[in-house]
Amino acid sequence: MEYKLTSFEEKETIELAENLESEKFPNMVICLKGDLGSGKTVFTKGFANALGITDVITSPTFNIVKEYYGGEMPLFHMDVYRIDEASVQIDFDEYFSKKGVSIIEWSDMIAEHLPKQRLEISFKIIGEDKRMLIIKPFGKKYEDLCEAVL
Ligand SMILES: Nc1ncnc2c1ncn2[C@@H]1O[C@H](COP(=O)(O)OP(=O)(O)OP(=O)(O)O)[C@@H](O)[C@H]1O
Ligand SMILES: [Mg+2]
Repeated sequence: MEYKLTSFEEKETIELAENLESEKFPNMVICLKGDLGSGKTVFTKGFANALGITDVITSPTFNIVKEYYGGEMPLFHMDVYRIDEASVQIDFDEYFSKKGVSIIEWSDMIAEHLPKQRLEISFKIIGEDKRMLIIKPFGKKYEDLCEAVL
């Protein structure tokens, strides 16, 4: 099963993040894939904001994972685009089980570390502000979540 959405402006991508946030649960994993500059960080910022996190969300380029505890639930923001031998030692499973929400940009780079149950969102640039979003739930919890908000 997959859901296809078109986002015509940044605000619509943020709204999607807000809708998904409203159904959050501990150990939720959201995997973001797709083109450079397609809106993965925009989505993450929207989600963080909806959680009530007031810190500025910047892409965790050097440390791979950034942890935010200021919201309703912890947020673990990962950007694994520049993952290397050293940082692949990160215990991703630990993050996926410490009762927060994990959002992973460029999740394909750590495909073998991803949990079976997860939500995947693929972003594709169609035009200046137009993005195609393909949302795929893996597992019952995520299927129910998609039914509830999409
Ligand atoms: N419909 C849209 N949804 C999301 N972002 C949009 C949209 N239209 C335009 N934008 C713009 O596209 C850019 C998306 O940048 P963003 O940093 O979120 O991309 P990214 O996918 O995280 O890139 P990277 O792979 O480099 O991390 C922003 O400048 C945003 O304003
Ligand atoms: Mg980004």
